[in-house]
Amino acid sequence: MTQPQSAICAEGGDFGLFLTLVLADGDTAAVRRVLAALPDMTESVAVQSGEPALTSSVAIGAACWPRLTGRECPDGLVPFAPLADGARKAPATPADLFLHIHSPRHDANLMLARRVAGALGNHVRVVEEVMGFRHLGKRDLTGFVDGTENPEGDDRTEVALVKDDPFAGGSFVSLQRYVHDLPRWEALSLPDQEAAVGRTKDSDEEMEVKPPFAHIARVVIEEDGEELEVLRHSMPYGTTSENGLYFVAYCASPAPFRKMLERMVLSAGDGHHDRLLDFTRPVTGAAFFAPSADWLRALD
Ligand code: HEM
Repeated sequence: MTQPQSAICAEGGDFGLFLTLVLADGDTAAVRRVLAALPDMTESVAVQSGEPALTSSVAIGAACWPRLTGRECPDGLVPFAPLADGARKAPATPADLFLHIHSPRHDANLMLARRVAGALGNHVRVVEEVMGFRHLGKRDLTGFVDGTENPEGDDRTEVALVKDDPFAGGSFVSLQRYVHDLPRWEALSLPDQEAAVGRTKDSDEEMEVKPPFAHIARVVIEEDGEELEVLRHSMPYGTTSENGLYFVAYCASPAPFRKMLERMVLSAGDGHHDRLLDFTRPVTGAAFFAPSADWLRALD
């Protein structure tokens, strides 16, 4: 089996670092060399920091794929297409590369991120750098447990990784940074919050009868008797002035995320949208492909 990048199938750590970058003009050979070295760099920082669970993955966007890699582009990799339904928007924002690091320790994450950023130097510009953290166990800042129905064990590989060459072991990545309006959310009654999510808050149980606007009712989609799945690595982030959820999904195909997001944002289908989007809004959106570690190493 081709080795996937380590952050993809590993259980999420207590801390995550999410960096989006754009390529500078000029030669891309230096960036290629850093990408090729990332799996080994991660192992060496894991040893140096004494944090064996340090993981990373780097993913490449469609717009810079040919220029950066000089290779064919994975089938289905296209730039994030923005969505809008009235005031409800899912914008697309610039990003050529996405670096995702997670582990039980922020210091180890930062050590690796600094090493990668140092090696990339002025061949890239950092667009956004976000630190994610675990909040009250596995709860989103809305107070609801996030990740319960994420694939587990071998299913993680099954859901996240492309099976066939030349991109076996790689994964399609979708990201969106959401900004929550917590004062408004917290002013909702408990039953209204639970109806918006479709699960109970304290005990994290799926509601037997869910309103059509519940988050769970929007994103659970069956096709040919099979539920569409993505592997989520989302994490809470933020400060007192701005906070929310950094949403990241890995998948063997770009289609499931897209279909879920359309059912969240657009009301054209059944007249409903995701009630969560009345309390949180995406301010970034980008799509990438995270090749296998072996594919990356061969870039140099
Ligand atoms: C489930 C929160 C955005 C896809 C959940 C759950 C929560 C949650 C609390 C229930 C527990 C669980 O199974 O994980 C949020 C919040 C979001 C957000 C606060 C944004 C601020 C998204 C987006 C997608 C998505 C953008 C995909 C486009 C899913 C899926 C599930 C899920 C597939 C599992 C459904 C199931 O199998 O029951 N989310 N989510 N979520 N969410 Fe989200």
